[in-house]
Amino acid sequence: MFTRRTLLAVETSCDETSISVIQAESSLSAPDSLPERVKILAHIVESQTSHLAFGGVVPEVAARDHLLKITPLAQTAFEQAKLKPENLDSVAVTLGPGLIGALMVGSLFAQGLSIALGKPLAGVNHVDAHLAPALLLRNFNPEHDCGQWMEIDLPAFPALALTVSGGHCHMSLLHSPSERLLLGHTADDACGEAFDKVGKLLGLPYPGGPQIEKLASQALPEAVNFKFASTLSDKKNRYGFSYSGLKTQVLDCVRRELGFPQGRIQGASLPPEVKSRIAAAFQDAAVGQLCDRLKNALEDFPAVKSVLVAGGVAANQIFRRKISEATYLPVRFAPMSLCSDNATMIGLQALIPETQLKVPHPFSRYPYQT
Ligand code: KG4
Ligand code: ZN
Repeated sequence: MFTRRTLLAVETSCDETSISVIQAESSLSAPDSLPERVKILAHIVESQTSHLAFGGVVPEVAARDHLLKITPLAQTAFEQAKLKPENLDSVAVTLGPGLIGALMVGSLFAQGLSIALGKPLAGVNHVDAHLAPALLLRNFNPEHDCGQWMEIDLPAFPALALTVSGGHCHMSLLHSPSERLLLGHTADDACGEAFDKVGKLLGLPYPGGPQIEKLASQALPEAVNFKFASTLSDKKNRYGFSYSGLKTQVLDCVRRELGFPQGRIQGASLPPEVKSRIAAAFQDAAVGQLCDRLKNALEDFPAVKSVLVAGGVAANQIFRRKISEATYLPVRFAPMSLCSDNATMIGLQALIPETQLKVPHPFSRYPYQT
């Protein structure tokens, strides 16, 4: 016997406006426990294109764009789910970290909906939520799996988790879906941000990650004669990350290849095969650092039984391959469709008991943006 609940989830922390509607079934004897199965009724992700001209996300533009799109997207989500607002049992929203203006649009929309319907609102941590799809689901392809019941399928614990996105680079140890210990994070830039900045330097459109991956695949392995050093870990800092030095090495390399020009560097004018070799060498060093820290953690925590990988950078196929080669343990990657920001991961995270954030009063200082 099951009890069923339906929630609407909202994600607006950066440049994706996303709404999902999720149904979950839990055992009747423990209705608030982790569900046994879920059905994604609507999964809507709209990536903002207004930032393309700037080569990166402009916070004010992002907030205004969310404001324009959020209500029509929620209407579309209700249509897709074949539900009315009154059918919801709760609302979930990203409270942070993220861009403050962008977060405010989503959180006030969700608060408004929850107050109007008289239904509870769950606050969700965005970085924790990136892991939820890898934690709870084996796979999810919106084309086939929307509207289908999917069994919740947890990995073996303890699990090591890498969350690698444009804003964060975290290594955590999980003893259960709700018990996590942050082992290390980046001291400066996140890995995805380094992909974006190197992409910009080479004249590629934003976001740089997928573009760098594509460009790197065009370099013949024997021709990759650039080598960038990855920041080394030491005894004291086994799981910390750093990407600013790597970015500077790429900048110096581009400067050298261009013959040390004065003023603004235009890496776009380099010959295509030089750009592809730089992209491949950068990707190698960026991914190498992630694998190095994972190996340290696997050595230090021999009881670990599985590895989870999530965040926008988890869409990178070279990263996936190298992580799989770095361990004999089972590795669960977030499904491709749920690597980059989306509201489905927010809804899934809201279903994990004991992980919700306190929703701030609209007049209080907003505590969750960093
Ligand atoms: O998780 P996400 O959507 O946003 C944040 O929470 O930051 O991650 C976006 C980041 C961007 O930096 C983007 O360049 C990177 O993920 N990314 C990739 C790939 N696809 C997206 N990086 C490397 N290779 C990819 N294929
Ligand atoms: Zn994210």
